[in-house]
Amino acid sequence: MARILKASAAEWVPASHDLSRLRAAAPACRGCELYQHATQVVFGEGPPDAKVVMVGEQPGDEEDRRGHPFIGPSGKLLSKAMQEAGLDREKIYVTNAVKHFKFLERGKRRIHAKPSGIEISACKPWLEAELAAIEPELVVCLGATAAQSLMGSAFRITASRGKFFPHPWAKELTATVHPSAILRAPERYEEEYELFLRDLRVIAGRVKELEKAS
Ligand code: URA
Ligand code: SF4
Repeated sequence: MARILKASAAEWVPASHDLSRLRAAAPACRGCELYQHATQVVFGEGPPDAKVVMVGEQPGDEEDRRGHPFIGPSGKLLSKAMQEAGLDREKIYVTNAVKHFKFLERGKRRIHAKPSGIEISACKPWLEAELAAIEPELVVCLGATAAQSLMGSAFRITASRGKFFPHPWAKELTATVHPSAILRAPERYEEEYELFLRDLRVIAGRVKELEKAS
């Protein structure tokens, strides 16, 4: 019987810096068990020469059904905040740390389930390949899962949001909250949204500086 010894996407990731080749290979990935229940793989999208890459957690219900990243409720909130902060979503590559939707079935509803550390590290070769292809100035982690993938599990968003760190796969890395965290706390929406916007405005400023310096 075939057994997965170490969950990893590595053997399915082509040795290529061509994003369209990477995207074409992703549906065949069996690097962890998450492909089994999801509708489809949801790969990153955006320009191959993007200066900024934003990394979320994993596709949500709507992303899973339609096959594109950040198009559901959190994606809409992200787009609104980006626009307000002066970041053009069209110029940014948007992807996820884990490329299949993980969920629990509750009757007809599918409830988001947090990816495990094993799944996050299994899927990391795809993220690494995307970043190697794009070579961005800045990678932005949206929430703890992306930060765990790129900075390790000791990284804390609350302590480090809005700060910039060197990273081997981009000139710099920064982190902020995941937009779904703002949607999950309606009683603190205004406050949390303003803090998110503040981080995105700092990011917009830093992108200008990095572009000037390069
Ligand atoms: N949440 C994510 O982290 N990514 C998506 O693509 C959608 C929701
Ligand atoms: Fe492969 Fe990532 Fe999907 Fe797991 S979640 S099967 S590693 S693409």
